[in-house]
Amino acid sequence: MKLAIVGTGYVGLVTGTCFAEVGHRVICVDNDANKVKMLQAGGIPIYEPGLEELVKKNVASGRLSFTTSTAEGVQLSDVIFIAVPTPPQPDGSVDLSFIERVARDIAAAMTGYKIIVDKSTVPVKTGEKVTETIKRYCPAKVEFDVVSNPEFLREGFAVGDLMNPDRVVIGVRSKRPVAAMTEIYEPFKAPIVVTDINSAELIKHAANSFLALKISYINAISAICEAAGANVEEVAHGIGLDERIGKRFLNAGIGFGGSCFPKDLSAFIKISEQVGYEFRLLKEVQQINARQMDRFVKKITDTLWVLKDKKIGVLGLAFKQNTDDVRSSPAIDLCQRLIKEGATLRVHDPKGMDKAKALLKEGVTYVDDMNDVAQGCDALVVATEWEEFKQLDLDLARKNLSHPIMFDGRNLFDPATMEKLGWIYKSVGR
Ligand code: UDX
Repeated sequence: MKLAIVGTGYVGLVTGTCFAEVGHRVICVDNDANKVKMLQAGGIPIYEPGLEELVKKNVASGRLSFTTSTAEGVQLSDVIFIAVPTPPQPDGSVDLSFIERVARDIAAAMTGYKIIVDKSTVPVKTGEKVTETIKRYCPAKVEFDVVSNPEFLREGFAVGDLMNPDRVVIGVRSKRPVAAMTEIYEPFKAPIVVTDINSAELIKHAANSFLALKISYINAISAICEAAGANVEEVAHGIGLDERIGKRFLNAGIGFGGSCFPKDLSAFIKISEQVGYEFRLLKEVQQINARQMDRFVKKITDTLWVLKDKKIGVLGLAFKQNTDDVRSSPAIDLCQRLIKEGATLRVHDPKGMDKAKALLKEGVTYVDDMNDVAQGCDALVVATEWEEFKQLDLDLARKNLSHPIMFDGRNLFDPATMEKLGWIYKSVGR
C-alpha cells in the first residue's frame, strides 16, 4: 500500500521503516530539512537497535523515501499516519498544536479520498477534533476517514515490538477504512482490535498508566521489603508466576522515566479530571515514583554522610537500557541531585553520553570505558539497567575506589556475592 508518515521521531521513523520492510511503499515527512537530508543519505538521528540497517535497506530498495513536504506525502499516498510529538504543558495537559497543524496541512493537500491515521498518543476525543479540522480546512471538500491507531513500541526494542506486536488497535467511526487498515497490518500477523475512536485513544493511556502502576506497585513493595527484611525479587517472582499478574514490569529500581510514562500519567490524570473523575490512584503512582528516588538518594547520603567534595562514579544516564534517550531519565535526575548536594561525578553510559552532555555539565566528567568510572571515586552508583554493566570488572573497581561502596539502583548485582567480595553493597528492596 502507499503510505505517508508525518513526523520522523521514534514512532514515525520506526513505523515507516517497518511498513516498508513488509512491502509497503512509504514516504516519511518531516519539517526538519537537516533530518530529512541525513535520512536520505542513510543516516539516522537516533540510536535504536537494528533500525539503521533497515532504513538503509529499504531506502536502497526504493520502498522508503523522505521529504519535507506534507503535500507531497499526501499526494503520493492513500493512507497518511500522523506521528508528531504531543508534548506536555506545564499543567500536565497535552499540547496538541503539532497535531492540529499537520491535520490542516493534510487537509489543504487532499484532492481525493484519504485515510488519516493518528498514531501519536493523544487524549480521548482528539479524533473528533482532527475530523472537524480536516473538514474545515480541506478546500476540495473530499471524503476522508480519521482512524486512531495508537503505537505501543518501547524504545530500545522498537523494531522488534513493531514487527511482532501483541495487538494492533484500530479505532474507526465507520467500516470504510477497516479493510485498508487490516491490509496494512496483515503482514505482522497480530491480533487486530477494531473499536471506536474514543476507546482506541483511551486504550493507549490506560495501557501506559497500568504499566507505570505496576512499576510503582513493586517499588512500594520494595520499601516494605527493606523495612521488613524481605527480598523484592523473590516477592516479584512469587507473584509474577500468577498469570493474572504476569512477570514483566516488576523490576524494582529508582523509578520509571522516559518520554512516555511520566507524560502519559499526567495527561491521563488531566483527561480524567476533564471528564469529571479524579484519578487518585494514578496520582499515588506518581508519588510513589518520586518517593522511590528520594529513598535512593537518602540511602546514598545515609552511607556517605556529607556529599560535598565527594566524587561519585555513575553507571548509566539513559532512562533505560538499549537507548540513547535521556529525556526524563531517572539517572539524570539522580545525577542532578548528587551534584546539588555538592558531589562531583564521573559518569558513563554506553549510548546516552552525547545527549546527556546538554543536561549535565558542571562537575561531571564523561568517561568512555565503564571500567574507568570508579577511578578516584568514593562510591559507585548504578542508575540504568544496561545488561553490560553486569560485566563490570569488580576487582578493578574495588581497587579504583577509595572504599568499595556500591549503590545499585537497578539490582544488577547479587547482594550475597557482592558482600563476599567485600563490598558495602546497597540495592533496592533487598
Ligand atoms: C513505554 C511503553 O512500554 C510502551 O508500550 C509505550 O509505547 C511507550 O512507553 P518506553 O518509555 O520506551 O515504553 O520504556 P519502558 O521499557 O516501558 O520503560 C519505561 C521506564 O520504566 C524506564 O525508565 C524503565 O527503566 C522503567 N522500568 C520498566 C522499571 O523501573 N521497572 C520495570 O519493571 C520496567
